[in-house]
Amino acid sequence: MTLADKRILLIIGGGIAAYKTLDLIRRLRERGAAVTPVMTRAAGEFVTPLSVGALTGKKVYGELFDRDDEQDVGHIRLARGADLVIVAPASATRMGRMAAGIGDDLAGAILLATRAPVLLAPAMNPAMWTHPATRRSRETLKGDGLHFVGPNRGEMAESGESGEGRMAEPLEIVAAAEAILGAGAGPLAGRHVLVTSGPTHEPIDPVRYIANRSSGRQGHAIAASLARLGARVTLVSGPVALADPPGVSTIHVETAREMLAAVEAALPTDAAVFVAAVADWRTEGDAAHKIKKGPEGPPSLHLVENPDILRTVGTGPRRPALVVGFAAETRDLLENATAKLERKGADLIVANDVSGDVMGGEANTVRLVSRDGVEEWPRMPKEAVADRLALDIARRLAETDTP
Ligand code: CTP
Repeated sequence: MTLADKRILLIIGGGIAAYKTLDLIRRLRERGAAVTPVMTRAAGEFVTPLSVGALTGKKVYGELFDRDDEQDVGHIRLARGADLVIVAPASATRMGRMAAGIGDDLAGAILLATRAPVLLAPAMNPAMWTHPATRRSRETLKGDGLHFVGPNRGEMAESGESGEGRMAEPLEIVAAAEAILGAGAGPLAGRHVLVTSGPTHEPIDPVRYIANRSSGRQGHAIAASLARLGARVTLVSGPVALADPPGVSTIHVETAREMLAAVEAALPTDAAVFVAAVADWRTEGDAAHKIKKGPEGPPSLHLVENPDILRTVGTGPRRPALVVGFAAETRDLLENATAKLERKGADLIVANDVSGDVMGGEANTVRLVSRDGVEEWPRMPKEAVADRLALDIARRLAETDTP
Protein backbone atom coordinates (compact mmCIF):
# COMPACT_ATOMS: atom_id res chain seq x y z
CA MET A 1 0.00 0.00 0.00
CA THR A 2 2.46 2.60 -1.20
CA LEU A 3 -0.15 5.36 -1.26
CA ALA A 4 -1.93 4.48 2.00
CA ASP A 5 -3.95 7.41 3.35
CA LYS A 6 -2.83 9.71 0.54
CA ARG A 7 -5.55 12.07 -0.67
CA ILE A 8 -5.35 12.49 -4.40
CA LEU A 9 -7.43 15.02 -6.26
CA LEU A 10 -7.78 13.78 -9.81
CA ILE A 11 -8.73 16.39 -12.39
CA ILE A 12 -9.97 14.56 -15.46
CA GLY A 13 -9.55 16.71 -18.55
CA GLY A 14 -11.14 16.50 -21.95
CA GLY A 15 -9.60 14.20 -24.56
CA ILE A 16 -9.84 10.66 -25.74
CA ALA A 17 -7.15 9.61 -23.21
CA ALA A 18 -9.68 10.33 -20.44
CA TYR A 19 -10.76 6.69 -20.71
CA LYS A 20 -7.39 5.67 -19.21
CA THR A 21 -8.19 7.62 -16.04
CA LEU A 22 -10.76 4.96 -15.14
CA ASP A 23 -7.93 2.45 -14.88
CA LEU A 24 -5.76 5.07 -13.15
CA ILE A 25 -8.40 5.47 -10.41
CA ARG A 26 -8.41 1.72 -9.86
CA ARG A 27 -4.59 1.56 -9.67
CA LEU A 28 -4.40 4.48 -7.22
CA ARG A 29 -7.06 2.98 -4.98
CA GLU A 30 -5.38 -0.45 -5.03
CA ARG A 31 -2.39 1.27 -3.44
CA GLY A 32 -4.44 2.78 -0.67
CA ALA A 33 -5.08 6.30 -2.02
CA ALA A 34 -8.39 8.10 -1.62
CA VAL A 35 -9.26 9.64 -4.99
CA THR A 36 -11.52 12.70 -5.24
CA PRO A 37 -12.54 13.29 -8.85
CA VAL A 38 -13.07 16.61 -10.59
CA MET A 39 -14.27 16.44 -14.18
CA THR A 40 -13.93 19.35 -16.55
CA ARG A 41 -16.84 20.07 -18.83
CA ALA A 42 -15.04 18.45 -21.79
CA ALA A 43 -14.18 15.33 -19.77
CA GLY A 44 -17.88 14.51 -19.67
CA GLU A 45 -17.78 14.02 -23.43
CA PHE A 46 -15.40 11.09 -22.98
CA VAL A 47 -16.20 9.41 -19.65
CA THR A 48 -19.37 9.54 -17.59
CA PRO A 49 -19.62 10.91 -14.05
CA LEU A 50 -21.44 7.69 -13.24
CA SER A 51 -18.42 5.48 -13.92
CA VAL A 52 -15.99 7.94 -12.31
CA GLY A 53 -18.23 8.17 -9.22
CA ALA A 54 -18.59 4.40 -9.00
CA LEU A 55 -14.84 3.76 -9.30
CA THR A 56 -13.79 6.43 -6.81
CA GLY A 57 -16.71 5.90 -4.44
CA LYS A 58 -16.83 9.68 -4.15
CA LYS A 59 -18.93 12.60 -5.30
CA VAL A 60 -17.82 13.84 -8.70
CA TYR A 61 -17.17 17.59 -8.77
CA GLY A 62 -17.86 19.40 -11.97
CA GLU A 63 -18.89 23.03 -11.84
CA LEU A 64 -17.26 25.97 -10.10
CA PHE A 65 -20.52 27.41 -8.94
CA ASP A 66 -22.23 24.40 -7.53
CA ARG A 67 -24.87 25.85 -5.22
CA ASP A 68 -24.33 23.25 -2.50
CA ASP A 69 -20.56 23.17 -2.42
CA GLU A 70 -19.78 26.80 -3.03
CA GLN A 71 -21.29 27.72 0.33
CA ASP A 72 -18.09 26.53 1.98
CA VAL A 73 -15.91 27.78 -0.87
CA GLY A 74 -15.70 24.36 -2.49
CA HIS A 75 -12.62 24.89 -4.61
CA ILE A 76 -10.54 26.12 -1.69
CA ARG A 77 -11.61 23.15 0.41
CA LEU A 78 -10.85 20.73 -2.43
CA ALA A 79 -7.49 22.42 -3.09
CA ARG A 80 -6.47 22.27 0.57
CA GLY A 81 -7.63 18.74 1.21
CA ALA A 82 -5.24 17.08 -1.24
CA ASP A 83 -1.75 15.64 -0.81
CA LEU A 84 -1.35 15.59 -4.58
CA VAL A 85 -3.30 16.95 -7.54
CA ILE A 86 -3.12 14.95 -10.78
CA VAL A 87 -4.33 16.42 -14.08
CA ALA A 88 -4.96 13.63 -16.61
CA PRO A 89 -5.24 14.07 -19.46
CA ALA A 90 -3.76 17.58 -19.51
CA SER A 91 -4.62 19.19 -22.85
CA ALA A 92 -2.62 21.94 -24.56
CA THR A 93 -5.40 24.37 -23.67
CA ARG A 94 -5.38 23.37 -20.00
CA MET A 95 -1.60 23.78 -19.89
CA GLY A 96 -1.88 27.20 -21.51
CA ARG A 97 -4.53 28.33 -19.05
CA MET A 98 -2.51 27.03 -16.11
CA ALA A 99 0.64 28.74 -17.33
CA ALA A 100 -1.31 31.99 -17.57
CA GLY A 101 -2.93 31.51 -14.15
CA ILE A 102 -6.49 31.36 -15.47
CA GLY A 103 -8.94 29.87 -12.99
CA ASP A 104 -12.27 30.24 -14.75
CA ASP A 105 -13.56 26.75 -14.03
CA LEU A 106 -13.41 24.50 -10.97
CA ALA A 107 -10.26 22.70 -12.16
CA GLY A 108 -8.51 26.00 -12.89
CA ALA A 109 -9.53 27.51 -9.55
CA ILE A 110 -8.28 24.43 -7.66
CA LEU A 111 -4.97 24.51 -9.51
CA LEU A 112 -4.48 28.14 -8.52
CA ALA A 113 -5.51 27.61 -4.91
CA THR A 114 -3.66 24.41 -4.11
CA ARG A 115 -0.32 24.27 -2.35
CA ALA A 116 -0.04 20.52 -2.90
CA PRO A 117 2.32 19.19 -5.59
CA VAL A 118 0.70 19.00 -9.02
CA LEU A 119 1.39 16.22 -11.55
CA LEU A 120 0.37 16.67 -15.19
CA ALA A 121 -0.07 13.84 -17.67
CA PRO A 122 -0.29 15.65 -21.02
CA ALA A 123 -2.09 14.08 -23.95
CA MET A 124 -2.53 15.74 -27.29
CA ASN A 125 -1.78 15.53 -30.97
CA PRO A 126 2.02 15.54 -31.62
CA ALA A 127 1.71 18.78 -33.59
CA MET A 128 0.10 20.48 -30.60
CA TRP A 129 2.70 19.06 -28.19
CA THR A 130 5.57 20.42 -30.26
CA HIS A 131 3.92 23.80 -30.90
CA PRO A 132 6.04 26.62 -29.45
CA ALA A 133 3.08 27.83 -27.37
CA THR A 134 2.73 24.42 -25.68
CA ARG A 135 6.47 24.26 -25.13
CA ARG A 136 6.36 27.68 -23.52
CA SER A 137 3.51 26.58 -21.24
CA ARG A 138 5.40 23.44 -20.27
CA GLU A 139 8.60 25.33 -19.44
CA THR A 140 6.64 27.92 -17.44
CA LEU A 141 4.83 25.22 -15.49
CA LYS A 142 8.05 23.33 -14.85
CA GLY A 143 9.61 26.56 -13.66
CA ASP A 144 6.65 26.91 -11.25
CA GLY A 145 7.61 23.50 -9.82
CA LEU A 146 4.87 21.39 -11.42
CA HIS A 147 5.66 17.79 -12.28
CA PHE A 148 5.15 16.07 -15.63
CA VAL A 149 4.82 12.44 -16.61
CA GLY A 150 4.90 11.68 -20.33
CA PRO A 151 3.66 12.15 -22.94
CA ASN A 152 4.92 9.01 -24.61
CA ARG A 153 5.71 8.36 -28.20
CA GLY A 154 3.23 6.19 -30.07
CA GLU A 155 0.14 6.07 -32.18
CA MET A 156 -2.64 8.56 -31.43
CA ALA A 157 -5.99 6.98 -30.62
CA GLU A 158 -8.06 9.34 -32.74
CA SER A 159 -5.96 9.98 -35.84
CA GLY A 160 -3.64 6.98 -36.06
CA GLU A 161 -0.78 9.50 -36.38
CA SER A 162 2.48 8.61 -34.71
CA GLY A 163 4.59 10.89 -32.53
CA GLU A 164 4.99 12.29 -29.06
CA GLY A 165 1.69 13.09 -27.40
CA ARG A 166 0.21 9.87 -26.05
CA MET A 167 -0.74 10.07 -22.41
CA ALA A 168 1.51 8.11 -20.02
CA GLU A 169 0.09 4.74 -19.01
CA PRO A 170 -1.79 4.55 -15.70
CA LEU A 171 1.05 2.66 -13.99
CA GLU A 172 3.57 5.28 -15.11
CA ILE A 173 1.37 7.98 -13.62
CA VAL A 174 1.13 5.96 -10.41
CA ALA A 175 4.95 5.61 -10.29
CA ALA A 176 5.33 9.37 -10.71
CA ALA A 177 2.76 9.99 -7.96
CA GLU A 178 4.61 7.60 -5.66
CA ALA A 179 7.90 9.33 -6.35
CA ILE A 180 6.43 12.77 -5.63
CA LEU A 181 4.64 11.69 -2.48
CA GLY A 182 7.73 9.83 -1.27
CA ALA A 183 9.00 13.37 -0.85
CA GLY A 184 7.45 13.44 2.61
CA ALA A 185 9.78 10.75 3.87
CA GLY A 186 13.39 9.71 3.41
CA PRO A 187 16.69 11.25 4.48
CA LEU A 188 16.48 14.05 1.88
CA ALA A 189 12.93 15.18 2.72
CA GLY A 190 12.71 18.96 2.66
CA ARG A 191 15.93 19.31 0.61
CA HIS A 192 16.13 20.78 -2.87
CA VAL A 193 18.87 19.31 -5.05
CA LEU A 194 19.94 20.42 -8.51
CA VAL A 195 21.43 17.95 -11.01
CA THR A 196 22.88 18.59 -14.47
CA SER A 197 22.99 15.71 -16.93
CA GLY A 198 23.68 14.76 -20.52
CA PRO A 199 25.82 16.43 -23.15
CA THR A 200 25.40 19.92 -24.52
CA HIS A 201 25.07 20.65 -28.21
CA GLU A 202 26.90 23.69 -29.51
CA PRO A 203 25.65 24.84 -32.90
CA ILE A 204 28.08 25.34 -35.77
CA ASP A 205 25.32 26.49 -38.09
CA PRO A 206 21.56 25.80 -38.19
CA VAL A 207 22.06 22.12 -39.09
CA ARG A 208 25.35 21.10 -37.47
CA TYR A 209 26.58 20.99 -33.91
CA ILE A 210 29.45 19.93 -31.66
CA ALA A 211 28.48 17.16 -29.25
CA ASN A 212 29.96 14.39 -27.11
CA ARG A 213 29.15 10.79 -26.20
CA SER A 214 27.40 11.42 -22.89
CA SER A 215 24.05 9.55 -22.73
CA GLY A 216 22.79 11.28 -19.57
CA ARG A 217 22.23 7.90 -18.00
CA GLN A 218 24.38 8.51 -14.91
CA GLY A 219 22.98 11.99 -14.25
CA HIS A 220 19.36 10.94 -14.77
CA ALA A 221 19.87 7.94 -12.45
CA ILE A 222 21.28 10.25 -9.77
CA ALA A 223 18.27 12.57 -10.09
CA ALA A 224 15.91 9.60 -9.71
CA SER A 225 17.83 8.22 -6.69
CA LEU A 226 17.78 11.61 -4.95
CA ALA A 227 14.02 11.87 -5.54
CA ARG A 228 13.50 8.39 -4.08
CA LEU A 229 15.28 9.55 -0.93
CA GLY A 230 12.71 12.33 -0.61
CA ALA A 231 14.51 15.30 -2.20
CA ARG A 232 12.82 17.82 -4.44
CA VAL A 233 14.98 17.51 -7.53
CA THR A 234 15.48 19.92 -10.41
CA LEU A 235 17.23 18.21 -13.31
CA VAL A 236 18.73 20.38 -16.04
CA SER A 237 19.31 18.08 -18.98
CA GLY A 238 21.07 18.49 -22.28
CA PRO A 239 19.72 16.60 -25.33
CA VAL A 240 19.30 12.92 -24.36
CA ALA A 241 17.19 10.00 -25.54
CA LEU A 242 15.97 9.26 -21.99
CA ALA A 243 12.56 9.86 -20.44
CA ASP A 244 12.31 12.47 -17.68
CA PRO A 245 12.75 10.58 -14.36
CA PRO A 246 9.47 10.25 -12.45
CA GLY A 247 8.89 12.81 -9.74
CA VAL A 248 11.75 15.00 -10.95
CA SER A 249 11.23 18.47 -12.34
CA THR A 250 13.21 18.31 -15.60
CA ILE A 251 14.29 21.32 -17.66
CA HIS A 252 15.58 20.69 -21.17
CA VAL A 253 18.38 22.75 -22.67
CA GLU A 254 20.75 22.44 -25.63
CA THR A 255 23.80 24.58 -25.11
CA ALA A 256 26.18 25.24 -22.21
CA ARG A 257 24.95 28.82 -21.96
CA GLU A 258 21.33 27.67 -21.74
CA MET A 259 22.35 25.13 -19.11
CA LEU A 260 24.02 27.81 -17.01
CA ALA A 261 20.93 30.04 -17.24
CA ALA A 262 18.63 27.18 -16.17
CA VAL A 263 20.98 26.26 -13.31
CA GLU A 264 21.09 29.85 -12.07
CA ALA A 265 17.29 30.06 -12.25
CA ALA A 266 17.00 26.94 -10.06
CA LEU A 267 19.25 28.32 -7.28
CA PRO A 268 19.22 28.48 -4.30
CA THR A 269 19.35 24.75 -3.56
CA ASP A 270 20.77 22.69 -0.69
CA ALA A 271 23.04 20.67 -2.96
CA ALA A 272 24.05 20.60 -6.61
CA VAL A 273 25.46 17.67 -8.56
CA PHE A 274 27.12 18.52 -11.87
CA VAL A 275 27.11 15.37 -13.96
CA ALA A 276 26.62 16.95 -17.40
CA ALA A 277 29.38 16.59 -19.95
CA VAL A 278 29.30 20.27 -20.84
CA ALA A 279 31.05 21.17 -24.08
CA ASP A 280 34.13 23.14 -23.15
CA TRP A 281 34.02 25.14 -26.36
CA ARG A 282 31.52 26.58 -28.80
CA THR A 283 32.06 28.20 -32.15
CA GLU A 284 32.37 31.94 -32.15
CA GLY A 285 29.40 33.87 -33.47
CA ASP A 286 26.14 32.49 -34.78
CA ALA A 287 26.13 31.23 -38.36
CA ALA A 288 22.60 32.18 -39.39
CA HIS A 289 22.82 30.10 -42.57
CA LYS A 290 24.11 26.66 -43.41
CA ILE A 291 27.80 26.79 -44.26
CA LYS A 292 28.19 25.75 -47.93
CA LYS A 293 31.04 23.91 -49.58
CA GLY A 294 33.00 26.18 -51.87
CA PRO A 295 36.17 26.63 -53.85
CA GLU A 296 37.90 28.13 -50.80
CA GLY A 297 37.96 24.63 -49.20
CA PRO A 298 36.81 23.49 -45.75
CA PRO A 299 35.88 26.22 -43.28
CA SER A 300 37.92 26.64 -40.13
CA LEU A 301 35.98 26.78 -36.89
CA HIS A 302 37.08 29.35 -34.39
CA LEU A 303 36.28 28.07 -30.90
CA VAL A 304 35.70 30.10 -27.77
CA GLU A 305 35.41 28.82 -24.23
CA ASN A 306 32.03 28.06 -22.68
CA PRO A 307 31.21 29.14 -19.14
CA ASP A 308 32.24 26.55 -16.56
CA ILE A 309 28.92 25.91 -14.83
CA LEU A 310 30.34 23.99 -11.89
CA ARG A 311 32.99 26.63 -11.22
CA THR A 312 30.50 29.50 -11.60
CA VAL A 313 28.21 27.93 -8.97
CA GLY A 314 30.96 26.42 -6.78
CA THR A 315 32.77 29.74 -6.38
CA GLY A 316 29.72 32.00 -6.65
CA PRO A 317 27.71 33.91 -4.05
CA ARG A 318 24.76 31.51 -4.12
CA ARG A 319 26.82 28.38 -3.62
CA PRO A 320 24.78 25.44 -2.25
CA ALA A 321 26.00 23.88 1.02
CA LEU A 322 27.18 20.83 -0.90
CA VAL A 323 28.66 20.96 -4.41
CA VAL A 324 29.50 17.75 -6.24
CA GLY A 325 31.36 17.62 -9.55
CA PHE A 326 32.33 14.83 -11.89
CA ALA A 327 35.70 14.42 -13.50
CA ALA A 328 35.91 12.48 -16.70
CA GLU A 329 39.53 11.57 -17.11
CA THR A 330 41.52 9.32 -19.37
CA ARG A 331 44.81 9.61 -17.42
CA ASP A 332 46.25 10.94 -14.13
CA LEU A 333 42.79 10.55 -12.71
CA LEU A 334 43.49 11.36 -9.07
CA GLU A 335 45.79 14.32 -9.62
CA ASN A 336 43.35 15.85 -12.07
CA ALA A 337 40.35 15.23 -9.82
CA THR A 338 42.08 16.77 -6.81
CA ALA A 339 43.04 19.83 -8.83
CA LYS A 340 39.45 20.17 -10.06
CA LEU A 341 38.15 20.05 -6.49
CA GLU A 342 40.09 23.19 -5.65
CA ARG A 343 39.75 25.00 -8.95
CA LYS A 344 35.99 24.57 -9.23
CA GLY A 345 35.03 25.05 -5.58
CA ALA A 346 33.57 21.56 -5.17
CA ASP A 347 33.26 19.58 -1.94
CA LEU A 348 33.39 16.29 -3.73
CA ILE A 349 34.56 15.11 -7.12
CA VAL A 350 33.32 11.82 -8.50
CA ALA A 351 36.19 10.77 -10.73
CA ASN A 352 35.65 8.25 -13.45
CA ASP A 353 38.05 6.86 -15.94
CA VAL A 354 36.37 7.33 -19.31
CA SER A 355 39.07 5.65 -21.35
CA GLY A 356 36.91 2.47 -21.53
CA ASP A 357 33.20 2.07 -22.24
CA VAL A 358 31.82 4.40 -19.57
CA MET A 359 30.37 7.07 -21.84
CA GLY A 360 27.08 5.71 -23.10
CA GLY A 361 27.71 2.41 -21.30
CA GLU A 362 25.83 0.80 -18.43
CA ALA A 363 28.45 0.49 -15.69
CA ASN A 364 30.83 2.86 -14.01
CA THR A 365 33.91 2.59 -11.80
CA VAL A 366 34.31 5.71 -9.69
CA ARG A 367 36.45 7.20 -7.00
CA LEU A 368 35.18 9.85 -4.62
CA VAL A 369 37.73 12.56 -4.06
CA SER A 370 37.17 15.01 -1.22
CA ARG A 371 39.40 17.01 1.10
CA ASP A 372 39.27 14.02 3.47
CA GLY A 373 40.82 11.66 0.95
CA VAL A 374 39.85 9.19 -1.71
CA GLU A 375 37.24 6.45 -1.58
CA GLU A 376 37.26 3.75 -4.23
CA TRP A 377 34.06 2.07 -5.31
CA PRO A 378 33.93 -1.22 -7.22
CA ARG A 379 32.61 -1.32 -10.78
CA MET A 380 28.82 -1.34 -10.64
CA PRO A 381 25.78 -0.38 -12.76
CA LYS A 382 25.21 3.37 -13.09
CA GLU A 383 21.95 3.01 -11.14
CA ALA A 384 23.86 1.49 -8.19
CA VAL A 385 26.44 4.31 -8.34
CA ALA A 386 23.49 6.72 -8.27
CA ASP A 387 21.85 5.11 -5.23
CA ARG A 388 25.09 5.04 -3.31
CA LEU A 389 25.98 8.61 -4.21
CA ALA A 390 22.49 9.82 -3.21
CA LEU A 391 22.94 8.22 0.23
CA ASP A 392 26.38 9.78 0.51
CA ILE A 393 24.91 13.20 -0.35
CA ALA A 394 22.21 12.73 2.30
CA ARG A 395 24.87 11.93 4.91
CA ARG A 396 27.08 14.88 3.93
CA LEU A 397 24.12 17.28 3.98
CA ALA A 398 23.09 16.03 7.42
CA GLU A 399 26.67 16.74 8.56
CA THR A 400 26.56 20.31 7.27
CA ASP A 401 23.61 20.90 9.63
CA THR A 402 25.48 19.69 12.69
CA PRO A 403 27.18 22.62 14.41
N1 CTP B 1 31.59 21.31 -16.01
C1 CTP B 1 30.70 22.35 -16.04
N2 CTP B 1 30.77 23.29 -17.04
C2 CTP B 1 31.73 23.20 -18.00
C3 CTP B 1 32.63 22.12 -17.98
C4 CTP B 1 32.55 21.20 -16.98
O1 CTP B 1 29.84 22.44 -15.18
N3 CTP B 1 31.77 24.12 -18.94
C5 CTP B 1 31.53 20.34 -14.91
C6 CTP B 1 31.08 18.97 -15.28
O2 CTP B 1 29.70 18.81 -15.14
C7 CTP B 1 31.83 18.12 -14.27
C8 CTP B 1 33.10 18.88 -14.02
O3 CTP B 1 32.82 20.21 -14.42
O4 CTP B 1 31.15 18.06 -13.04
C9 CTP B 1 34.34 18.36 -14.71
O5 CTP B 1 34.25 18.38 -16.08
P1 CTP B 1 35.49 17.97 -17.02
O6 CTP B 1 35.05 18.18 -18.41
O7 CTP B 1 36.01 16.64 -16.63
O8 CTP B 1 36.54 19.02 -16.55
P2 CTP B 1 37.17 20.26 -17.23
O9 CTP B 1 37.05 21.39 -16.31
O10 CTP B 1 36.68 20.41 -18.61
O11 CTP B 1 38.71 19.88 -17.19
P3 CTP B 1 39.62 19.22 -18.29
O12 CTP B 1 39.40 20.00 -19.52
O13 CTP B 1 40.94 19.38 -17.65
O14 CTP B 1 39.22 17.78 -18.39
